[in-house]
Amino acid sequence: MTYTVCFLPGDGIGPEVTAAARQVIEASGVDIEWVNLAAGATALEFCGNVLPERTVAAIEGHGVALKGPITTPIGRGHESVSVRLRKRLNLYAAVRPVRSLPGIKTRYDNVELVIIRENTEGLYSGIENEVVPNIVQSLKICTAEACTRIARFAFNYAVQRQRKKVTVFHKANIMKKSDGLFLRCAQKVYSQFAGTVEYEELIIDNGCMQLVSDPSRFDVLLLENFYGDIISDLAAGLVGGLGVVPGANIGDHCAVFEPVHGSAPDIARKGLANPLACIMSGVMMLNHLGEQQAAAKIRDAYGQVLAEGNPENLTRDIGGTAGTEQFTRAIIRAMK
Ligand code: NAD
Ligand code: IPM
Ligand code: MN
Repeated sequence: MTYTVCFLPGDGIGPEVTAAARQVIEASGVDIEWVNLAAGATALEFCGNVLPERTVAAIEGHGVALKGPITTPIGRGHESVSVRLRKRLNLYAAVRPVRSLPGIKTRYDNVELVIIRENTEGLYSGIENEVVPNIVQSLKICTAEACTRIARFAFNYAVQRQRKKVTVFHKANIMKKSDGLFLRCAQKVYSQFAGTVEYEELIIDNGCMQLVSDPSRFDVLLLENFYGDIISDLAAGLVGGLGVVPGANIGDHCAVFEPVHGSAPDIARKGLANPLACIMSGVMMLNHLGEQQAAAKIRDAYGQVLAEGNPENLTRDIGGTAGTEQFTRAIIRAMK
C-alpha cells in the first residue's frame, strides 16, 4: 500500500526536524509518496502568500499532512499560518501526548498525560479591535457546537484508550459565560459517558499548581484553545521540554501532524534541533494511517536510543552533545 502524505517543512528548525522525521518514517518500511507543500516564509517568498490555496487544497484532498512549525510575527502582521490552517481545515481537536521517557532525567518519572485542546475558537478567533485610541478589545468566541464536539472527542478518546479520567481546566468563576458554556457542554457529554470514565473540573490556576506538584494525578486534560496552548508547553517542561512532545490536529476529514514546539529561531539552521517531537508526530501519523507495526518499530527504536543514554546520540536539550542528524541516524540504526 502506498500512502500519499502532504509534507510542509515550515520555518526555522521546521525543515531540519521534518526531514529527520521523513527519513525515520521511510526507514520503517512504509511506502509514502510525499507531496511537498509551502507554507510560511518560503511560501511568502515563492508564492507571495503565507498560506497558498494550493497547500490547503492538497491537504483537503489527501487528508493527511506532516508539518513543521511556522514563524508568526509578534504584535503585528498576519494571523498565524498554523492557526489559520487549523481553522480552514476544521481540525478541531489537538491531541498532545506528554509522557515521561526513559533516560531523560526530570523531576518526575511518572507523567502520562494527554492534552485534548479545542483548536478552532476561543481567544484564537483573532477578532480584535481598537474601540477608541488606546482601548482595544479581544473577543473570546465560544460556541456550544465546538465545545460539545471537543468534549465528545475527549471522552471518546479516553474510553477507547482505556484512560481513567478526564479533567477540565477552566476559569468559569471569572469568565462565567464563555468558560461556563465550555463546562456545561463537557458536563452534558459526560452524562452520556458516566460510569465508563471519571470526570473532574478544576479552576485553572489551582490546576496548574496541582499539575506541577503531582502530574501523575492527571490523565486526559480537556482544555479550551488558549489554556490548551499554555498547558501544552508547561506539561512539556515536566518531561524534558519541547523537543519531546508531539501533536496531532484532527478533524472529521483530515489530520495534520506537527510537534508542539515552534520554529525555534535561536537554534535554526545550526543542526542542533531535537527531531524527536517531530518523529513522534510521525509515529502518531502512522498509527492514524493504520500502520501500527511501523509506528511501534520507530517507538521501540527511539525508546532504545533514549534508554541507552549515550550523549553522542542525543541532542543538547536532553543532555547530549549530538546534532539533529546524529540523533536521527542513531534512531534509524536502532530500527535495523
Ligand atoms: P519555540 O517552541 O520555537 O522555542 C522555545 C524554546 O524551546 C527555544 O529556546 C527553542 O530553542 C527550544 N526548542 C523548541 N523546539 C526545540 C527542539 N525541537 N529542539 C531543541 N530545542 C527546541 O517557541 P517560541 O520561541 O516562543 O516561538 C518561536 C516561533 O515559533 C514564533 O514565531 C511562534 O509563533 C512560532 N510557533 C509556531 C508553532 C507552529 O507553527 N506549530 C508552534 C509554536 C510556536
Ligand atoms: C502551538 C503554537 C501555536 C498556538 C501558534 C504559535 C501558532 O504555539 O501549536 O501550540 O498558539 O496554537
Ligand atoms: Mn503553543
